Amino acid sequence: MTQFSRYLRSRERDGWFVIFHELQPDPVYCRADRWRAFKEGVCDDALLRKLAERKLVVSSEADDDAIWREAAARLERKLNQPLILYLMLAQGCNFTCTYCPVPGMAMRYGENLLSREDAVRGLELWCEHLRDAADPMAQNHIIFYGGEPLLNKPVFLGALEEMRRLRQSGRLPASTEAMIVTNGTLFDDETIAACVRHNVLTVVGLDGDRIENDRARRYAGGRGSFDAIVASIQRLQSAGLRVAVSAIANPGNVNELSELGRFYRALGVEQFGINFLRGHAVIELLPVGGHAAFEARCVEGVIASARSTGEAGFEFQMGKKVAAFRDRDPHPHDCTCYGNQLVIRPDGQISNCPFHPANLGAVREVGLDFRISQAPIVAQWRQRSPLLHPAHRDDDSKALSGLGCAWGGNDLSGNFLSADRVLTTFSQAVFEQLIWSEFGEPNHVD
Ligand SMILES: C[S@@+](CC[C@H](N)C(=O)[O-])C[C@H]1O[C@@H](n2cnc3c(N)ncnc32)[C@H](O)[C@@H]1O
Repeated sequence: MTQFSRYLRSRERDGWFVIFHELQPDPVYCRADRWRAFKEGVCDDALLRKLAERKLVVSSEADDDAIWREAAARLERKLNQPLILYLMLAQGCNFTCTYCPVPGMAMRYGENLLSREDAVRGLELWCEHLRDAADPMAQNHIIFYGGEPLLNKPVFLGALEEMRRLRQSGRLPASTEAMIVTNGTLFDDETIAACVRHNVLTVVGLDGDRIENDRARRYAGGRGSFDAIVASIQRLQSAGLRVAVSAIANPGNVNELSELGRFYRALGVEQFGINFLRGHAVIELLPVGGHAAFEARCVEGVIASARSTGEAGFEFQMGKKVAAFRDRDPHPHDCTCYGNQLVIRPDGQISNCPFHPANLGAVREVGLDFRISQAPIVAQWRQRSPLLHPAHRDDDSKALSGLGCAWGGNDLSGNFLSADRVLTTFSQAVFEQLIWSEFGEPNHVD
């Protein structure tokens, strides 16, 4: 006896159906009349075989329960894997970008600089996280972040040296990659030489061409930053550094997003990522009633910019989802805040998110047995996954959607479990394209 799985989903287009498993999509394409006949009981061994291979037909409800338990266990294993250590070197910044929550946080919590002792202790705690990681081969990153991290140059240079020592002693895997996320304007010869020596990936914020960028990314005092950022990117590239760009889709560049891929390609950067605007900035920067239209333009623009260069993975947000779909590696989470990352804030407090001061203890006071994946806030935020969230159990794009950013959802609605609308719309739109992208052999039943 067989029955359709409760996770079987389908979509119809141009006389064809795509049929897929909601928890582990691996599409089957079938002519509409053939699919309808099969559903009405017409015998079709070829189709039945394709469906059975994908667990789209099962012997009982218990089979579906087991598949859900497997998916939940796989999610938990993934979220327990340490992937990123954030060392937030400075709370303050020499920029006051219109959308950024950091200047407000600097006013609220002080313009702290991370101390050398806290940075070293953070690195030690990270080595302990990696020591008992389930997958010792998974690539991990140490990200220097802020505010503007280069406002704390001595601790940046000291932490790079400490990383080298930890690698030499075998406590940090050789594959650990250092990355700095910066506005790019405070590099000097010594910092560049250290980045070259330690093979640091530099991620520079740039929101488009001069007009688009300077609408939002401005020095404290109001001056535009485009010329300084581009000069800095060229200087870093001439020194042989790998440079990536991070942009924000915001009201100042939303109509030109589709051009960003080609613009960054011409600048010679390795990769770019477009972040969606999150948190209170959404209310502050958008006209009342303008949210839905803005969100739709952001989603269209990011997808168009990712496709414009014809190079999968050149744009990070889309690249992540395309890779997850291609590799049949379901991703019912959008963020690394659910246990994958340890954040050391400029005041030495531990958090799970660079934008949210969770105050999980001072890094120099917690024991070396502290694990971010076991923090109660992480258990709470994990409930955002549509795999677990009671209000999203029926989202059929959940294999590629995680309801977006918990910090942003909370900043807007006071609820860490609320969906971040624009990212959810983006995930659904990308899923819609990907589920039809393999149309043809070998997933075709004819
Ligand atoms: C907080 S800044 C810190 C690093 C550095 N000072 C810089 O300018 O990139 C890091 C990134 O946060 C992102 N960001 C700032 N405000 C945001 C917001 N409201 N929503 C989403 N991302 C935001 C920007 O893309 C920025 O590149």
